[in-house]
Amino acid sequence: MKNDVDLRKAYSLLHPRPVVLICTQDRNGKINVMSCSWITPVSDEPPLIAVSLWTKGYTHNIIDETKEFTVNIPSSKLVKQVWLAGTKSGRKVDKTKILGLKFTGSKTVSPPAIEECVGVLECKVKERIMLNEQVLYIAEIQRACAEENLFKNDIWIDEANILLHTGGKIFSTPKSVKELE
Ligand SMILES: Cc1cc2nc3c(=O)[nH]c(=O)nc-3n(C[C@H](O)[C@H](O)[C@H](O)COP(=O)(O)O)c2cc1C
Repeated sequence: MKNDVDLRKAYSLLHPRPVVLICTQDRNGKINVMSCSWITPVSDEPPLIAVSLWTKGYTHNIIDETKEFTVNIPSSKLVKQVWLAGTKSGRKVDKTKILGLKFTGSKTVSPPAIEECVGVLECKVKERIMLNEQVLYIAEIQRACAEENLFKNDIWIDEANILLHTGGKIFSTPKSVKELE
């Protein structure tokens, strides 16, 4: 038997899903980091992703201004930083001062990458679609990098411990099923 789920919570059926840290930089050079799990690949040629951001957050203002961001893929080691970046707004707090993360320059966009993350996508916005209180950005990946020991044959190995957001304060990591090996 299946129970009905409130339609406003129906998205929860699509979790756990990877959570990333989106890094932006405003025109004055100020860096901001936010957590995001409503992000997905939507095309491989050209390499496009879709990201859905709440309009009350600060990140979407910076992206509207600069059209650039980096997507940083954290492992489970960064769960506390992910929670902080996802519960405090850059409108009120300088998150770079509280997250204890290192930033390194990107090659194709202005916002930096987060050194402690195991992968990064450098992205430029191609399209912006308003969805009531969310903005959906379609962005093209300009450059992608992954930790060589953890990303093998285009796959994150289990040891990468890619962080998944299950819901609320619950996070998990992927575990491969072995049946097809
Ligand atoms: C695990 C997790 C996932 C989140 N995913 C999203 C998301 O996909 N889109 C979004 O707009 N906010 C998401 N949030 C909430 C934002 O990260 C939060 O509103 C943050 O304070 C925004 O920061 P900013 O105002 O500096 O942009 C998420 C929060 C957490 C903890």
